[in-house]
Amino acid sequence: MVKRPGGRGATPGDGDPGGCRIIIDPEFRVGEVDPRLFGSFIEHLGRAVYTGIYEPDHPDADDQGFRRDVLGLVRQLGVPIVRYPGGNFVSAYDWLDGVGPRDARPKRLDLAWHTLETNQVGTDDFCEWARRAGTEVMMAANLGTAGVDSARNLVEYCNHPGGSRYSDLRIANGRTEPHAIKTWCLGNEMDGPWQVGHKNAAEYGALASNAAKAMKAVDRTIELIACGSSGAQMSTYGTWETTVLDHCYDDVDYLSLHTYFFPSSDDPGSFLAQNVEMDDFIRSVASMCDTVRARKRSKKRVHLSFDEWNVWRMTDGDFAVMGGEDWPEAPPLYEQPYTLEDAVAVGLMAITLLRNADRVKIGCLAQLVNTIAPITTVAGGPAHRQTIFYPYLHVSRYGRGTALDVQVRSPHYECAKFGAVPLLDAVAVNDEEHDSLTLFAVNRSIGAMLPVEGDVRGVPGYQVLEHLVLEHEDRLAQNTAEHPDTVVPHRLGDAALAGGRLTASLPPLSWNVIRMARG
Ligand code: AHR
Repeated sequence: MVKRPGGRGATPGDGDPGGCRIIIDPEFRVGEVDPRLFGSFIEHLGRAVYTGIYEPDHPDADDQGFRRDVLGLVRQLGVPIVRYPGGNFVSAYDWLDGVGPRDARPKRLDLAWHTLETNQVGTDDFCEWARRAGTEVMMAANLGTAGVDSARNLVEYCNHPGGSRYSDLRIANGRTEPHAIKTWCLGNEMDGPWQVGHKNAAEYGALASNAAKAMKAVDRTIELIACGSSGAQMSTYGTWETTVLDHCYDDVDYLSLHTYFFPSSDDPGSFLAQNVEMDDFIRSVASMCDTVRARKRSKKRVHLSFDEWNVWRMTDGDFAVMGGEDWPEAPPLYEQPYTLEDAVAVGLMAITLLRNADRVKIGCLAQLVNTIAPITTVAGGPAHRQTIFYPYLHVSRYGRGTALDVQVRSPHYECAKFGAVPLLDAVAVNDEEHDSLTLFAVNRSIGAMLPVEGDVRGVPGYQVLEHLVLEHEDRLAQNTAEHPDTVVPHRLGDAALAGGRLTASLPPLSWNVIRMARG
């Protein structure tokens, strides 16, 4: 049934949409959720680092200058891994600028964002921050202006125990123990003409192969991510992936994907349907990896690292910083407050990642603090949770175990960009270790409640523990420093499960987490 056929500007399902039927069965396995699937990202961009994670003058700063309030929120999120230091920033970054005594570190022009980088936070500091935040580091090497030598030296600096030039430099800088970084990015978005040191696919593929060989020669336990396309809209998309992998398939473990949803105030229906395209993107890139695998008659499978994904609102102010004459230090960049609608879109993206957990092993919500982020700080003041904090929190906490393909029969709505789109999107995760099951579900309808009936098989005796809901009567409601709790989840959802039959009403435009376990 297609509800409210409409073009541009149609809102999904204002009328009575009718009900949905779903089937959840622990046998409908997609795959194990890699613990790194809901990682995040801190780039030297805007105020992510300075006055974000690091603010030595802040009243709540710890002995290393890290904001304790931010550390607390990151720990609450349970972020498993954080990509660092970029992003576009890494492509002109010399990691040696950021180690050693702080007062001897140079100030450098950051060519990616037209700002001044003070280097007061660098590799050792970030690894220490990550340790305090209870997370792992995913380190990116510069394959833009730098190359094989810088990358292999950085691996030696971070991972070699001692007795060599760069490991001894780390020790001299006060870090006796190696940082033991397992996951490494071979540059960032090297297909993008905006990237400093941008390369074509053959050039990048050959460089990635050589850098990978040298980095693994230093530490054969590391895992490497080659750059895929910066997005499916790139003109080189498709040929980039296969050409790069033709060169480096045997040397790498993952290929990256990036996607941002850009909100459109006059077409929320299409905005909320973008994860349909994200699903397709993932499946297509997985096929590209498998095409090269077949061509090479390889036994190895290259998996996917979705290491940048989020909703991104840009403003003229952001463009003004990058187009300006001056080189400001840590200016606010990309700090637009998120809405409820954005949070629902982030939930939809997370559902897509879980639905593809057999191929997507690593994911990074881009980013973590201040810049396109779930956590926002006031310099010298408090930190607060954006609306998108909550779906990210929920999937990070409860999206662990085995992802299950939920069979969904839902009414559809019609949108300008994607045609007929289901009002309901859902995925489930079976946590065998804790004998529990979680359904993540979104009602895309802006105007109507969606009744759901479910057949929950193979888990006799299960009941609903809680039904968390993120909703608001105003789809554009935001959390701000003055009103940090305007959009927060509640536990008043009505989901019930008895005798394997699940019933729930999903409020209009809502993110739902239905947790089930043995009663
Ligand atoms: O996350 C912000 C930027 O988006 C990153 O630096 C870049 O990789 C992407 O284009």
